[in-house]
Amino acid sequence: MSQDLSILFEPFQLKGLVLKNRFVMPAMTRARTPAPGTPTELNALYYAQRAGAGLVIAEGTNPVPGGSGFPGVPAIFTPGHVDGWRRVASAVHGAGGKLFVQLWHGGRISSAAWQPDGRPPLGASAVKAENALFVTPDGQRGQPDVPREATQAEIDWLVEGFAKAARNAIDAGCDGVEIHGANGYLVHQFFSDRANVRTDGYGGAPRNRIRFAVEIAEAIAAEVGPEHTAIRISPLAAYQDAPVSDPSDVYPLLLAELDRLDIAYVHCVEGEPSGINTGQGAPEREFDFPAARRLFRGAWIANNGYDPERAARTIAAGDADLVSFGRPFISNPDYPARVRLGAPLNPIDNSTAYAGQAERGYTDYPALETEPAVA
Ligand SMILES: Cc1cc2nc3c(=O)[nH]c(=O)nc-3n(C[C@H](O)[C@H](O)[C@H](O)COP(=O)(O)O)c2cc1C
Repeated sequence: MSQDLSILFEPFQLKGLVLKNRFVMPAMTRARTPAPGTPTELNALYYAQRAGAGLVIAEGTNPVPGGSGFPGVPAIFTPGHVDGWRRVASAVHGAGGKLFVQLWHGGRISSAAWQPDGRPPLGASAVKAENALFVTPDGQRGQPDVPREATQAEIDWLVEGFAKAARNAIDAGCDGVEIHGANGYLVHQFFSDRANVRTDGYGGAPRNRIRFAVEIAEAIAAEVGPEHTAIRISPLAAYQDAPVSDPSDVYPLLLAELDRLDIAYVHCVEGEPSGINTGQGAPEREFDFPAARRLFRGAWIANNGYDPERAARTIAAGDADLVSFGRPFISNPDYPARVRLGAPLNPIDNSTAYAGQAERGYTDYPALETEPAVA
């Protein structure tokens, strides 16, 4: 390991939790949890294999029924789900890691066929996502339906559902939850002036568009404590047709509210998810990530296309406390150990990223041999 990477191996105090290093595994949907979304022994093994990260964030997980638009996604709203998550939390803790679960409602990136009541999915407004990445329940790529604009009663139900899901995660032994407020899904749809054309207190002015996210964060913090509450945002992402045309108005307001709530961390995707991170937005939608980081006093996780050198520089500059590495953790269960040793990395097999035959491309990526064979 070259000297300048040593900062990545320093522990970090995340509220009451000591993370052993600055590597975070971000939420990544792997589509390997069969219906009804109860995590399996295989899922537990996959996450335990990756417990060398200071923090593991489990993949997008539905907090309420009807939040999905992809097959194989876990959920966390029934006692059975909680038993499954207990298995994952205990495996990750047994391997020396810490675990947050990402709470993901897809909103309008769904269809009536995914809904328990067969009605159109919920959205901020009845605006269809164009050119969305969406998968039907029988595994075909398709186009999502025109959503229904969530009523006030439905918004209240969703907020309560997120808080109950957080309670379930803590009851299962997880260390906290991350609200999926990024990448064009439900919470982000409220931020977006394309997906959200409401005229009530949840639409229009930036202060209104952040209201849903703030209510969820408040409800979770009240239920399980702010130290177990976190959020992911992607200020420049236009993914799933939900750009925010005025990110420099919306996100500083949101960060001020999150700062007031004193939640554990903000996880920030810079640019388009899984895209090339130049550190710059489209010229018409500038966003100053280092300045945003300074609006929030809790921990900051940077993400998107980082390599260890850039991660170390970013942390040393005070622009993040932790950095998440997505694709490297898919194919390298022991990614931090490889970085420490300067060992070669396993290449990722993109064809098995979102599904495949269970173990293949999931739990069968090799770790380094830790013990030399005895002659
Ligand atoms: C297979 C796959 C699944 C993903 N699923 C999620 C998800 O469930 N929630 C989320 O917030 N981001 C998801 N992402 C985005 C990653 O968390 C991360 O932001 C992205 O891979 C960029 O980081 P990287 O360059 O280090 O890979 C996914 C990415 C990949 C490759």
